[in-house]
Amino acid sequence: MFERLTRQPDDPLLALIGIFKADPRADKVDLGVGVYRDEAGHSPIFRAVKAAERLIWESQDSKAYVAPEGDQAFLDLLWAMVGGKSSPVYAAGVQTPGGSGALRLAADLIRQAGTGKIWLGLPSWPNHAGIFAAVGLQIETYPYFDVPSQTLQLDSMLAALQRAAPGDAVLLHASCHNPTGAPLSTDDWARITAVIAARGLVPLIDSAYQGFGAGLEGDVAGLRALIAAVPEALVAVSCSKSFGLYRERTGALYAVAAAKAAAETARSNLVAIARTSYSMPPDHGSAIVKTILGTPALYEDWSNELDSMRERLASLRRSFAAALGDRWSNSLAIGKQEGMFSLLPLTPAEVMSLRDKHGVYMPTSGRINVAGLKLSDVTRVAGLFRSI
Ligand SMILES: Cc1ncc(COP(=O)(O)O)c(C=O)c1O
Repeated sequence: MFERLTRQPDDPLLALIGIFKADPRADKVDLGVGVYRDEAGHSPIFRAVKAAERLIWESQDSKAYVAPEGDQAFLDLLWAMVGGKSSPVYAAGVQTPGGSGALRLAADLIRQAGTGKIWLGLPSWPNHAGIFAAVGLQIETYPYFDVPSQTLQLDSMLAALQRAAPGDAVLLHASCHNPTGAPLSTDDWARITAVIAARGLVPLIDSAYQGFGAGLEGDVAGLRALIAAVPEALVAVSCSKSFGLYRERTGALYAVAAAKAAAETARSNLVAIARTSYSMPPDHGSAIVKTILGTPALYEDWSNELDSMRERLASLRRSFAAALGDRWSNSLAIGKQEGMFSLLPLTPAEVMSLRDKHGVYMPTSGRINVAGLKLSDVTRVAGLFRSI
């Protein structure tokens, strides 16, 4: 059987980790991998996560199965953070292995419900297309961002969505768009919401960076307005970045509807899909998130630490954009984007030249993780970008 298989290429972003590690240069810079890094280049564990782990270690008395839908207390606390404490909609959640697991479950549900098509922005997180194609969904695209001018393509996006058929699914990023960092204003969200509601489209909102852009509330304001305006939506949440729990595979998918019965029917399908896939989600990460969100002192400490990460990203962006100067016609836009990523107008040859000559690493798409910069090194690195 195995000999009938063809070898699959390595994921280029994951392959980059190995190439970076093997580079002996002391001043090399990793702008590739999508994890938050501090000024020392370290991807830290939140203080509140450590404290929660200690509490769990002391109090947990069983490792027996939880349930295919996961831990309801975790789901309720996480939804209060994402959807708001007094959300006007009903959200029926299932806990998933990370945001990717939530997106895959959403893809399966969309397919199971007989919807054939999902609309993705150009560009989007590369794994989006892979996940939806894997279940046989047809992928359509809407323009989102113009890389050379670093501008949002809102009018073209809305014109494309006007051509979507009622019932089609549409993927949106809640905030901190990966890979472009291009923010949506309140007015942009209102216009997108109006088209989605008028066309009868079903939004799937991917929320993977809450707290990294406009803060814990600001990053979900558009999402909240949208789900309140449509009869049905899906919300995929990742705790990987917001709680620094990447390897613990922590997330959730919520079926959101105005009517409780509809959301609960969707949830029963999600549970059935999960049962024949991974059966039960991992528990450790969700136990940590539940402990933090449910313990006022830990919540306070976690949200303060998250705030300082957001502020570090914003100040790195401002310094980097200023130091790039007139490298591109709209270099300053990079300073106003949000979250960890920006998509720079670099050719693959320029990306390779930065890597080979200067030890600056990023994928050939030109996406950079701003958190890979150091405030003490921004001017030097920007100079390298100006030199190629
Ligand atoms: C936009 C977006 N969605 C979802 C995810 C999934 O994250 P995870 O599966 O690690 O929770 C990521 C991770 O990089 C992402 O960038």
